[in-house]
Amino acid sequence: MTTLTPILTRNWDQEDSFTRAGYERAGGYTSLRKALTMEPDAIVQAVKDSGLRGRGGAGFPTGMKWGFLPPSSPNPRYLVVNADESEPGTCKDIPLMMANPHVLVEGIIISSFAIRSNHAFIYVRGEVLHVIRRLQQAVAEAYEAGYLGRDILGSGYDLELVVHTGAGAYICGEETALLDSLEGYRGQPRLKPPFPAVAGLYGGPTVINNVESIASVPSIVENGADWFAAMGTEKSQGYGIFSLSGHVTRPGQYEAPLGITLRELLDMAGGIRDGHRLKFWTPGGSSTPIFTDQHLDVPLDFESVGAAGSMLGTRALQIFDETTCVVRAVLRWSEFYAHESCGKCTPCREGTYWYKQMLKRLEAGQGEEKDLETLLDLSDNILGRSFCALGDGATSPVVSSIKLFREEYLQHFEQGGCPFDKAASTLWG
Ligand code: NAI
Ligand code: SF4
Repeated sequence: MTTLTPILTRNWDQEDSFTRAGYERAGGYTSLRKALTMEPDAIVQAVKDSGLRGRGGAGFPTGMKWGFLPPSSPNPRYLVVNADESEPGTCKDIPLMMANPHVLVEGIIISSFAIRSNHAFIYVRGEVLHVIRRLQQAVAEAYEAGYLGRDILGSGYDLELVVHTGAGAYICGEETALLDSLEGYRGQPRLKPPFPAVAGLYGGPTVINNVESIASVPSIVENGADWFAAMGTEKSQGYGIFSLSGHVTRPGQYEAPLGITLRELLDMAGGIRDGHRLKFWTPGGSSTPIFTDQHLDVPLDFESVGAAGSMLGTRALQIFDETTCVVRAVLRWSEFYAHESCGKCTPCREGTYWYKQMLKRLEAGQGEEKDLETLLDLSDNILGRSFCALGDGATSPVVSSIKLFREEYLQHFEQGGCPFDKAASTLWG
């Protein structure tokens, strides 16, 4: 039985957990003092040895990404934290930044020192004003304490940290669109390669990491790479925040080693809401193929979730019980992708529009069976043909729901409407 490992979440119930004083009382900024006595390369090596993989969804090894920075460049190096969390269901970075912004700031200082950067940015989603204010306050407190600015803690190391707010476009979470937005342009993905590690912000070598990845660095410096690598599974090491939302008794953030199962998480979260049963769920946000109760025991690590036909993504576990119409849920997600498609490439721009149109008709019971083949054919023309991951992600709920719930789609045509609406109207007279 896997148990919780409160590390990033350990002081969240402390009243002043978000202040410098509260964070320091819980042992905060001791890793920074230790890191500043280490060789930068030794920190990079520790992150490599820990096995930490990007917590923003893709799971790319963090230390390896840092290792891609060219040894010399005429341009400065940058660290950019991707705090543009926006995927439906994904809700781990925002509570982390609200409850414990200083662990992110400490992680940024250590990581910037490790990669020899003197300029760091937090790119945060523009709609979350409360988070922006909290980050700004934490950064100001860190400057006051001498953790940021010139000659940090007398080490001779300088770092400037800027909190930059986006304007609320989901695409700006894609790392190269984020860079365009940070530079003041309309956020649209750039062609890769070159990867940002080689040519990123203002053309300089740039490391872009997710909030949770960078926030995990102080714990690795404090406890060592072996401590981190001992948690999780062989190839998905360490711990992570699992966000349970939807029809669950106690939704919230559950921090646990990778490889825990939904069954175990549900035991801790009080199970599916009373009197109901699990119907379907997403392992990692709306861009990951859906699972059903057949997948309750799949270890939630990158390899096992992949082998079972989905992706670990952001560990955003959206739980739906038997009262939810899967067609309607997929329609809602498709509306989101159609709205957020940046329009740069045809498969995604047109494909997500047609998803929305077709699913609206299907959900209203106006389609026919051959429309399902059209939807799958459309998906084939989006997946692998889109410029960035947004287009690919949009196909996941559509394709997986047709595979797992074809009968429910058919019921919509047969009954001339959503069977769940009918059930509700019978129930309520
Ligand atoms: P990716 O796999 O293309 O890249 C992952 C990271 O590794 C990037 O930082 C990339 O620059 C780096 N990288 C990969 N190959 C490299 C190389 N050869 N040299 C240097 N660097 C290299 O994935 P991508 O497109 O960055 O992210 C997609 C993921 O984002 C999805 O899996 C999804 O789960 C997640 N996502 C997260 C959201 C959120 O709100 N947190 C929203 C939407 C998607
Ligand atoms: Fe823009 Fe969608 Fe193409 Fe990505 S896949 S570049 S979001 S149109």
